[in-house]
Amino acid sequence: MTTKYLLDETQMPKTWYNIQADFPEPMAPVLHPVTKEPVGPSDLEPLFPMALIEQEVSTEREIEIPEPVREVYKMWRPAPLYRAHGLEKALGTTAKIFYKYEGVSPAGSHKPNTAIPQAFYNKQEGINRLTTETGAGQWGTSLAFAGSLFDMDVNVFQVRVSYDQKPYRRAVMETYGAKCVASPSNMTEFGRKVLAENPDHTGSLGIAISEAVELAVQDPNTKYALGSVLNHVLVHQSIIGLEAMQQMEMADEWPDVIVGCTGGGSNFAGIAFPFMGHALRGGQKSRIVAVEPSACPTLTRGKFAYDYGDTAKMTPLTKMHTLGSQFTPPGFHAGGLRYHGMAPMVSHAKELGLFEATAYTQRECFEAGVLFARAEGIVPAPEANHAVKGAIEEALRCKREGTSEVILLNLCGHGHFDMAAYTSYFAGELGDYEYDDAELGMALSGLPSV
Ligand SMILES: Cc1ncc(COP(=O)(O)O)c(C=O)c1O
Repeated sequence: MTTKYLLDETQMPKTWYNIQADFPEPMAPVLHPVTKEPVGPSDLEPLFPMALIEQEVSTEREIEIPEPVREVYKMWRPAPLYRAHGLEKALGTTAKIFYKYEGVSPAGSHKPNTAIPQAFYNKQEGINRLTTETGAGQWGTSLAFAGSLFDMDVNVFQVRVSYDQKPYRRAVMETYGAKCVASPSNMTEFGRKVLAENPDHTGSLGIAISEAVELAVQDPNTKYALGSVLNHVLVHQSIIGLEAMQQMEMADEWPDVIVGCTGGGSNFAGIAFPFMGHALRGGQKSRIVAVEPSACPTLTRGKFAYDYGDTAKMTPLTKMHTLGSQFTPPGFHAGGLRYHGMAPMVSHAKELGLFEATAYTQRECFEAGVLFARAEGIVPAPEANHAVKGAIEEALRCKREGTSEVILLNLCGHGHFDMAAYTSYFAGELGDYEYDDAELGMALSGLPSV
């Protein structure tokens, strides 16, 4: 009985996968926030290095992973694929459950898969400082880690509610040499404006992005790094699925169902897009399921429309599933899933009918995470609990139907910095937030007219 499917370093992919090459229809163009005309590379230059801008618009199927990035990846990659024997037994399911574990990275999640190349390309173009936002702290930690390896300063704006919930995340970022402040902050004009209106604002990823962007555009030696949503980020994360494909072959299986959680869409795309592309090119098709929180249901209840990526409306407009850039999701514990929008590539795939989306509440996801921890030993991040919940539902369906489908889930991170959330769950203090239709209505009424 095999439990782990391991690749050696020589089997690590040498290229990332770009699903834009296989989409049956092209994506909608990205628009300038003021002129509302399609953006050109020069519009993005104040924020990103040219190498990443080129990746953002590339329609090449394979993009080479630079050698120095591959060398860093080897610190934790190839990441293991596990057969969840314990979970299968606990559920009494006839399904076969596999999980790709991204919590083996130094930061504890999939986020360094893109933090490393982003820091690398910036450094190559002479940039010495990066600014960014973080929700749960996984992304901020990852960029701080990348900054330490490439000798760069990193400024992180952490969403206030997560900053308060997870003080040790800040300590890790500082250990790597980064500076981390709670957002909204007094460091930026936009942060000061938000605080003047509401000094107790819990923050949101949209606000933190505005602050990080504001700081970046003021200094030619500073650029902005985003931990999800953008095409190049999703391309970098494809290494998850590319490895998983090789590992499923090692196991002599192929997934009937693939499950991932969606915040901005990067870990989901990372595991799902290589399999989706395989099917689009005529290969075996898997059912693909995205799981999001009921309190921030971008894919299941958002609108597919042009919107800003941030609250201050500084970023370009992209066509995506959105709850409105002015929507502040409630302070539930899966901080990485509290984003008003969805990656344009993931949104486009959804509109093309290439996957399904479901939403679950925070408590049922923690219940699934605890079951997983007791059966498999790994305590998942609250975000990952959504994928675990989705996979368990699929496995229970197989049990009812008496089928033995192969289920693959992306366990995108561990929850070692999220134990306060687990403690609240055990104490019965975790709330299931109602999705606020009135607030959403207001946020959606502010969508830009394009
Ligand atoms: C562990 C973990 N999973 C998932 C996410 C959500 O982001 P994405 O949907 O881009 O993977 C985050 C974001 O911070 C995270 O930290």
